[in-house]
Amino acid sequence: MVEKSGGYVIHEGCDHIFFVGFLGAGKSTLARNLGRLFHRGYVDVDRMVERSVGKTVCEIFSEEGEASFRRYEARELRKLAQRKSLLVSCGGGIVEGEESCALMHRMGSIVFLDGALSDSLRQIQHPELRPDFVDEACASRLYRLRRPLYERECDLRIDIRDKTFEQVAADSARVLGDDHPHTLTSRNNLAHAYQAAGRHHEAINLFKDTLKVCEDTLSPGHPLTTTVRENLETLEREMNPAPASFPESSEE
Ligand code: S3P
Repeated sequence: MVEKSGGYVIHEGCDHIFFVGFLGAGKSTLARNLGRLFHRGYVDVDRMVERSVGKTVCEIFSEEGEASFRRYEARELRKLAQRKSLLVSCGGGIVEGEESCALMHRMGSIVFLDGALSDSLRQIQHPELRPDFVDEACASRLYRLRRPLYERECDLRIDIRDKTFEQVAADSARVLGDDHPHTLTSRNNLAHAYQAAGRHHEAINLFKDTLKVCEDTLSPGHPLTTTVRENLETLEREMNPAPASFPESSEE
C-alpha cells in the first residue's frame, strides 16, 4: 500500500532499497555486504534478468537491443513487489526506464551512489562485459546524460568520491536506520500530532531536529525537506505572530 502524507510517499507494504549509480560505482558489492551486515536479502537486477531470459546482458543487448533489456529490467522489478526489505543492486541504465523508476519509487527508496566518472572508469575491470562501455567518450556521454536522472530520482545521494568502502557502507547504512526517509516521514507526522495536541514546544523541537537530518541526508531539494521546513515555519508563525503594525504617529 502506498500512502501520501505531507507531500511525501510512505511505502508500507514494500520497503526495498534500490542502489543506483554509474557503472563501476560499487552498487553490487555494497548491496551484498550491507545485506550481510543487516541481515537483509540482496538481489541484483542484471543477474535476475539473465536468469529469467537465459541470456547474458551482452547477448540481450546485441541480439534484441537496449529497449528490450529495459523491458526485462522492469519485468524483474515488478516481481520484487511480493518481497520485503531487500537491498537491490540496479544496472547503471535503469533510470532511463520510466516504468522502472515508477516501480522503484512505489516499492521503496532509491539511493544514488554518486562518484566521479574517472573513478568509475578505473574500477571497471571488464569493459568487454559491459555493452554500454564502447569507449571512454561513450561512457562520458552516458555519464552526462544519466547523472541528472540519478539526482532527480533518488531519495538519498551518497557522495562516494575519495571514500573507502567502509565509509560508503557507513553512509549507506543510515538509510537502514534512523535517518531513513520513512523514519523521517514518521517523525514529521509525530511532530504534527504534538502540534494538534497543543504540545507546541515538543512539536517545534521535533520539526527542527527532523529538518536538520533531512538537510544533512536527503538529496538537495527533496520534497520531504521542503514539507518539514514549511511545517516548522507555519508553527513558528502561529506561536510568534508578527506584532500588529500601527500607522506611524504623525506629529500634531
Ligand atoms: C548498463 C549497465 C550495466 C547493465 C547493462 C546495462 C547500462 O549495469 O545493467 O550492461 O546501460 O549502463 P552495471 O552498471 O551494474 O554495470
